[in-house]
Amino acid sequence: MTIVLLGAPGAGKGTQCKHIVARYGLLHLSSGDILRRQRAEGTELGKKAQSDMDSGVLVSDDIIVEMMIEAIRRAPDIGFILDGFPRTVNQAVELDKSLASNRQDIDAVLNLKVDDRTVAERMTGRRSCPQCGAVYHIRNLRPKVDEICDNDGVKLVQRTDDSPEVVAHRLETYRQQTEPVVDYYKKTRVVYNIDANKDADEVSNSIFEKLNALAKV
Ligand code: AP5
Repeated sequence: MTIVLLGAPGAGKGTQCKHIVARYGLLHLSSGDILRRQRAEGTELGKKAQSDMDSGVLVSDDIIVEMMIEAIRRAPDIGFILDGFPRTVNQAVELDKSLASNRQDIDAVLNLKVDDRTVAERMTGRRSCPQCGAVYHIRNLRPKVDEICDNDGVKLVQRTDDSPEVVAHRLETYRQQTEPVVDYYKKTRVVYNIDANKDADEVSNSIFEKLNALAKV
């Protein structure tokens, strides 16, 4: 199965991808996670992406398309879920071309819909582990010991782009450049809107309902 998961910053894409992976055994390909890994490793790509990411604007299409098409090419044959890509219409067009050239297609486009107020609350409260990437929330998903990762005991950090000013900028970028991607997919595929304001397990159940129905078709 090939799934595209769309949604505003902080809609819960990464959280839901973990649930989907646990249930269906797909590979999670997150453009944001790949970029953060490149930054942590100090690669040329990571250095190029740094200032765009920190100010809440998109990294250039050329860089992202090459990076993600390569990640898809290297993916094992178990199906995958795309998180954070495509994020512009141009990226969506390039993804379609690349999949078509390999006789692949997208099976489901899921769109997590969330209110701006929920986004702000989720992002300013998010904490993550700089070592293993685990994601927590200061109220909704607390670690066993305050500020410490359950997996490896490392002190949790706040993402540099989760400050209120950058969150506002990321939301604006989303409206201008990523919402048109939803319209692009509506022209060629069914887009499943999911109410993502609910509790994470309820959101997962809505997603599983859609995916189970698709799997039966
Ligand atoms: P990226 O990392 O993709 O950021 P994003 O899309 O803004 O998404 P987030 O990771 O912030 O949020 P999420 O929806 O995954 O939410 P999460 O599950 O963590 O991109 C970062 C940057 O990289 C971009 O700004 C850009 O510069 C660059 N970039 C990436 N891809 C690009 C592309 N294709 N093109 C160009 N540039 C690109 O949840 C958030 C918090 O809420 C967590 O604390 C979680 O525990 C909590 N939470 C989640 N769901 C719930 C729930 N249902 N109820 C309560 N709490 C919840």
